[in-house]
Amino acid sequence: MNDSISVGIDALAFAGPAAFVELADLARARGVDPAKFTHGLGQNRMAIASPCEDTVTMAVEAGALALKAFDVDPAEIGTLIVGTETGVDHSKPVAVYAHDLLGLDERCRTFETKHACYGAMAGLTSSMDWIASGRARGRKALVIASDIASYGLGTPGEPTQGAGAVAMVVSDQPRLLQIQPRTIGDYTRQVMDFWRPLYSKHALADGHYSIQCYLDALKGARLDAVGERHDLLDSLSACLYHVPFVKMAFKAHQREMEMELGHTISKAEAASWQQLTESYERLCAPWLTLNAEVGNIYTGSLFLALIDLLRQAGGELAGKDISLFSYGSGCGATHCLGKISDTAGRWQSALDPTPALARRRRLTIAEYESLVRASEAADRAETLNPADFGLSGGLYYTGTRNDRRHYERG
Ligand code: HMG
Repeated sequence: MNDSISVGIDALAFAGPAAFVELADLARARGVDPAKFTHGLGQNRMAIASPCEDTVTMAVEAGALALKAFDVDPAEIGTLIVGTETGVDHSKPVAVYAHDLLGLDERCRTFETKHACYGAMAGLTSSMDWIASGRARGRKALVIASDIASYGLGTPGEPTQGAGAVAMVVSDQPRLLQIQPRTIGDYTRQVMDFWRPLYSKHALADGHYSIQCYLDALKGARLDAVGERHDLLDSLSACLYHVPFVKMAFKAHQREMEMELGHTISKAEAASWQQLTESYERLCAPWLTLNAEVGNIYTGSLFLALIDLLRQAGGELAGKDISLFSYGSGCGATHCLGKISDTAGRWQSALDPTPALARRRRLTIAEYESLVRASEAADRAETLNPADFGLSGGLYYTGTRNDRRHYERG
């Protein structure tokens, strides 16, 4: 790939479940100080999927929104990649359901990528390579991140759940963000920080170790991307990170600043702590409001922060450079730089998911717990009625009959 070819994100959309849990409610139910979840983790709410909302339905809703809002003809899509770690079948990819339900062309290359939260970044960079190699022949790629983060009732990971999908159209005339290929740095290491065995619906995590693995990967990927630069942060208008919970972005930014300053930063050293908090407030905090409302959406969480930035400041930041860091447990990571396109300001309201988020229903903790139990049995349920979960007007999973999953608009 060569730098003269401008490749990047041309369209973006988010879609998620119709209900959420207020984290202060969850904290009270678990006998925890609510400030631990809201300040300690930085989360306000988490989206909760019902049994009728799965990785396929969210992927299709986000994909359809991106194509419609940005006026992309489905016939223009020549590659469809769904990044997910919560697929619905050991063999059949979510992407092929999405291909059908989105009405894409038969001449479309379609597949699923899995590497924990890294799957969508893997899809994005592969689709950029597909375009830059000339193989796309003028067509665009659709990359969709779709996941349901689930750790189980009463676990330490419970307040870091969430669900949702982000769809991105990738093209050689990106209306939102150009990604600079020579600034893409990678990192891989086999670690047991977070995983989900074949027999489990819920993820298992060595939580504190996973934070360390994330920070090590950030260091490694950034070194591969830009080497020992000490002035990168000053040249950027935003730093976007994988956001399992909002406080993680603060820890990540601290690690990047420590790399630039060449020493560790602690609260005990007032001057460097102030430098860190000012930098975080300028480059990161403004773009974490959606993540705080939705929770961890695994593959899509970095790109949800990008949506937040573009919906608020796409026009103001046109032509400016930003960084993106994707981390997937297990682990794999990419750090890269992008430039906000001159046209980004025109699309601020087209990609803004806040009206839909405002329509969500707040669950009581009893309702949330009953949804979690119902979701555990959903793969084997013969008939599911969306109306039983207060749902109408979308695409829903309606049960598995004769070992085949069924999807219907209702
Ligand atoms: P924990 O052990 O229950 O929480 O689990 P804690 O004791 O570490 O407290 C969390 C923070 O709250 C701390 O802040 C406390 O000080 C603070 P910090 O010291 O870290 O800055 N705190 C309070 N603040 C205000 N008032 C209070 C109060 N009490 C405590 N009263 C943990 C936390 C994140 C480990 C857990 O939720 C977990 O296991 N989550 C799942 C794993 C995870 O999210 N890992 C993140 C890195 S790995 C990753 O990002 C990949 C991932 O997305 C998966 C994938 O790739 O597919 C997870």
